Amino acid sequence: MKRICNIIILLSFSLVLNATETRKVVELRDWMFAKAGGEMNPVRIPHDWAIDGPFDKNIDKQVVAIEQNGEKVATEKTGRTGSLPWIGEGEYKTIFTVPDGYSQTEILFDGVMSEPEVFLNGKKIGEWKNGYNAFHFNLTPFIIKGENQLLVKCKNRPESSRWYPGAGIYRPVKLIFRKSDTNIKTWGTYSYTKEIKKNKAFLHYETKLEGSLKFSTKSKENLKLEVSIIDSNNKVVAKKKLNVLSDSIGTTIEIKNPNLWSPESPYLYKLRTQLVDKKGTIFDEDIQIIGIKTVSVTKEHGFQLNGKTRKIKGVCLHHDLGPLGTAINKAALIRQVKILKDMGCDAIRTSHNMPSTMQMEVYDSLGMMVMAESFDMWKYPKCKNGYCLYFDEWSDRDIENLVLNHRNHASNIMWCVGNEIPEQGDKKAVPILKHLQDIYHRLDPSRQVTSGMDRSTAAIKSGFAAALDIPGYNYRLPKYDEAHKLMPQGFLLGSETASTISSRGVYKYPVEKYKNKQYPDLQCSSYDLECCSWSNLPDDDWYWQDTKDWVIGEFVWTGFDYLGEPTPYDDFWPSRSSYFGICDLAGLPKDRYYLYRSRWNQNETTIHLLPHWSFGKEQEGKITPVFCYTNYPSAELFVNGKSQGLRTKQCIENKESMERYRLCWNNVVYEPGEIKVVVYDDEAKVCGEEVVKTAGTPSQLRLKADKTTLSADGDDLSFITVEMTDKDGNLCPLANDELYFSVDGVGEYVAACNGDATSTESFTQPQMKLFNGKLVLIVRSVKEKSGQINVTVKSSNQIISTLSLTSKL
Ligand code: GAL
Repeated sequence: MKRICNIIILLSFSLVLNATETRKVVELRDWMFAKAGGEMNPVRIPHDWAIDGPFDKNIDKQVVAIEQNGEKVATEKTGRTGSLPWIGEGEYKTIFTVPDGYSQTEILFDGVMSEPEVFLNGKKIGEWKNGYNAFHFNLTPFIIKGENQLLVKCKNRPESSRWYPGAGIYRPVKLIFRKSDTNIKTWGTYSYTKEIKKNKAFLHYETKLEGSLKFSTKSKENLKLEVSIIDSNNKVVAKKKLNVLSDSIGTTIEIKNPNLWSPESPYLYKLRTQLVDKKGTIFDEDIQIIGIKTVSVTKEHGFQLNGKTRKIKGVCLHHDLGPLGTAINKAALIRQVKILKDMGCDAIRTSHNMPSTMQMEVYDSLGMMVMAESFDMWKYPKCKNGYCLYFDEWSDRDIENLVLNHRNHASNIMWCVGNEIPEQGDKKAVPILKHLQDIYHRLDPSRQVTSGMDRSTAAIKSGFAAALDIPGYNYRLPKYDEAHKLMPQGFLLGSETASTISSRGVYKYPVEKYKNKQYPDLQCSSYDLECCSWSNLPDDDWYWQDTKDWVIGEFVWTGFDYLGEPTPYDDFWPSRSSYFGICDLAGLPKDRYYLYRSRWNQNETTIHLLPHWSFGKEQEGKITPVFCYTNYPSAELFVNGKSQGLRTKQCIENKESMERYRLCWNNVVYEPGEIKVVVYDDEAKVCGEEVVKTAGTPSQLRLKADKTTLSADGDDLSFITVEMTDKDGNLCPLANDELYFSVDGVGEYVAACNGDATSTESFTQPQMKLFNGKLVLIVRSVKEKSGQINVTVKSSNQIISTLSLTSKL
């Protein structure tokens, strides 16, 4: 153990993120881990102890009636929380030494699932209950000379979640060493844009100091704060020197010709605060990454970013990264954002919990607006061991930490105080809401607060809806008009919309609109016509988004499939992940992706045809509707050269309708060959075409990496899409061959995922079945080893394909 710990020290300290004379920030990556009573093994943080599986029907089997889904009778729910072994207790240990000359030590956790207790050298330092929140402790009084032993215990209770929560230290842990005992407080610096005038922006700035020196008047008189705003070329564009007369200091900073932050142009500045004395000695330095932007929501203008009205085109996301589990990873987050941005999405709701810092940083830099959420329940339980156990004691502190940690992020546009809080219809909940909302306002006057309400009429009656800054509606389109009339705000947000369900590449006949439809194979049809009893189709939301100024945007449930909540198959094993995603669990776009893209991304052309055209004999001669998702108004469909007619999008007054957004040929009869669509603009000019052919015999594996050059940091990932094709490169959409993976060179195999919500194959074993012709395989670079990574994929019938990637230092 001692030897391993020594290696750990070296590895941990090799990652110095930000070193100045005065402050060192070190990420603690290498730990020993054991599940209750088990043997300790080395792990690298971020770590999710459950993702290796195996999937097991009995894990967190809940016999419950899901009230939110309108259920009255308790039934057995097997895959509700993902069926992976996340329940139980775990312990993480590591050691560190304080670098010479540093007298202060603080530890910052970005989130530990869950109920973490932190011990240093055998003494308990502190604890946190919420598994999603960041927290920090001062370790200075407990530090000893030489090696310091750090122990983190965590515990996950059964029936504490409605989805897969993950397990363990799944977000980064940092040590902050400081030389001086007078410092800028962690999370003490805060800035927001007060006003943007023609060529000037005015920033509110404040910071908080801590430590012993500040109590000596003499020293205080000596201390100054130097505040600088630094642009992306490292040029100081504004500077202020402030006297330190108390431990809380504020001012306004003017910036000339500011570059504003937006999803389209995510320009970032550094906000540097230096605490200096008369002689210019720097005691401490704090750097925040900020953006210059204003947000507001008003009756007159709806949602505005930088003074311009826009409708939010957002998606809700759970925190898991599919086959990677909940262990946060930058490359995976970047991939998600790129996929979503290509769809035209500009916002993410971190449902239903506090986002990770890494996630917010990625959203800041790539340009995604964020609704940062807090809770899925208050006092009234949605599951018996959920946050309801801690709400009374911890909710104030949880909101404080959420706001302090994330209020400087450029991407952050609003807070959410809770999702479908069961108490919303009760008058007694209104003072609680006001109390919590006041905490947000006190710590961050620049943003408004919402809550996703699902019991709209009751929430209007109780006064809950009226008390919110931004009333958020989860579904309930038929109630939108009532809400608009009765609520004082004069606008509403679709805080959660659609919940349309589909399985990538699965098509069911006859093609009809269904609610809660179940099929024997536990899949949902990809014609995008199926949703839940409480929800609706994307087209229905768009009618409201497009025709009512007072609807300020939407967050679709969900951008990606996630582990757990396999509605409409909550009662059926082995369904263990969701069907709601616009993309599947592997991140592969479903047909619905192109439906959203055709409306949301007006900068690119979308012409997408469905279904595939490779059905077996049994489909020949049968009605097989064809849909085209395109941003063009009209299109003509051909089956083996025969026109099936022209379709044009239709706006039916005052009515939700599919005809507004989709072009559908409902009476096409299937015959093998090809389908072709030709799209036209308003002037009947041909603007493009798309062809789908019947595939021949599966004969090749096509490998396509999202990235072929990785950085050799041991964290970077390449996501390789594997597709079975015929000899001409046509996708074989029925192929379900077992594939085997091997990776050599300077990379390693991490996981694979095929997007099948019913698969019980382990993500982390190097083999998996294709699902409807596709899967994604994930490869990681090795730390400090540059060179080539060779990936080989082999099918059960000996089709082999290889791909080379490069890893660079
Ligand atoms: C909502 C809820 C989400 C998810 C969704 C499924 O009511 O807020 O967490 O359960 O339903 O449709």
